[in-house]
Amino acid sequence: MRTQVGIIGAGPAGLFLSHLLHRAGIECVVVEAQSRPYVEGRVRAGVLEPGTMETLEMLGLDARMRREGMVDEGLDIRFRGKNIHLDLPGLTGKRVMIYGQQEVVKDLIGARLEASQPLLFEAKVSRLSDLDGDRPKIHFSHDGRDEVLECDYIAGCDGFHGVSRQAPPPGHIINYERVYDFAWLGVLSRSRPLGDMTYSNSDRGFALCSRRSNAVSRLYLQIDANDDHTSWSDDRFWGELHARMFDEDRTEIVEGEIFQRDIARLRSFVASPMQYGRLLLAGDAVHITPPAGAKGLNLAVADVRVMAAALIEFYRTGNKSRLNGYSEKCLDRVWRTVRFATMLTGLLHRFPEHSAFERNLQLTELEYILGSRAAQTTIAEQYVGTPLDLT
Ligand code: FAD
Ligand code: DHB
Repeated sequence: MRTQVGIIGAGPAGLFLSHLLHRAGIECVVVEAQSRPYVEGRVRAGVLEPGTMETLEMLGLDARMRREGMVDEGLDIRFRGKNIHLDLPGLTGKRVMIYGQQEVVKDLIGARLEASQPLLFEAKVSRLSDLDGDRPKIHFSHDGRDEVLECDYIAGCDGFHGVSRQAPPPGHIINYERVYDFAWLGVLSRSRPLGDMTYSNSDRGFALCSRRSNAVSRLYLQIDANDDHTSWSDDRFWGELHARMFDEDRTEIVEGEIFQRDIARLRSFVASPMQYGRLLLAGDAVHITPPAGAKGLNLAVADVRVMAAALIEFYRTGNKSRLNGYSEKCLDRVWRTVRFATMLTGLLHRFPEHSAFERNLQLTELEYILGSRAAQTTIAEQYVGTPLDLT
């Protein structure tokens, strides 16, 4: 089998890339380890920055998002029973969109299959070869057979646990990492959500109330990294959420049937450089931001916009300078985004190792933000995301 660009992974990075290339007349094959229902059912991020919305629009795939997504204009941060309200359009002139990652993924998969473009599910990549040569190869199994896909370039979009990042020779890619001692327990509940995205830093830990529709709430609690689902009954979850949101009399947050749960360990991670030979890496395969700030999906889209522009230039002109500069171009945004998400994580969570001194500093920082429009603007402009630089 042969193609121009072999894409490993049908998450947001791989799927967006496949559409950007197809639109420019570049052939690609997407190879995904999991089944279609599994990929479409995976509940994850929910906040789309303007750059991500524009990318969907540019691809002509924004119709359902415009219909079903929810424009978000406010971000609240609660602490000590007080509330910081960030008026996003007032502070930045921009808004974000709440539209679940799995809905974006469904839209991208549907459109690719409708256009009869190759997307193989249950096709697990085992290794890559010849990354240094002109014809790098993807080795995978599909329908019980071992297959080889020969490419001009390989896009490693296979997430944190994929094989691409491990493929270059040892020592070429350096990992920079911080793993936290806590995780987020996320649930979907059939209940009316709060009007604004609301984070809370309480003495009992972090909580977040987000939404997916007028009737579905997406709710998160900071939990211990060693906790599992069984230690969190529905009653315990609701009790803790009310308490952490300063809703002690349980009148504000509406409870409902919890129909989905997931736990994500928090981590800040950057692998650099994001390329080796004819392998280009994007998304969670090379960086993880802790979830506060909702950046993971948006950063994956920013990477593949840069990658697509570089590949398009190469196929149109033969010029490789953008391809050679791919990693350097992306890493600037990657580090700025990881810095923001890491800063928000530090501002909003309870750290078991914090002394009373450090806890007081954290609360004083929140008091400062409450009283300073400049500090609110700093957070708001990073939350809505900076424009993509494709020069
Ligand atoms: P992924 O979405 O991970 O896609 C990678 C794809 O590659 C997967 O479909 C995988 O099956 C496939 N793959 C892996 N190995 C192979 C192989 N060997 N062969 C073929 N295919 C392979 N971000 C937020 O902003 N807010 C959140 O609330 C949030 N929650 C999250 C919860 C969880 C549990 C996780 C893991 C992430 C969460 N994120 C969140 C981050 C966000 O969802 C990711 O940043 C985003 O999915 C990145 O997209 P991606 O395409 O790079 O990677
Ligand atoms: C959501 C996820 C986040 O990580 C976040 O910071 C805000 C919202 C969400 O899933 O809606």
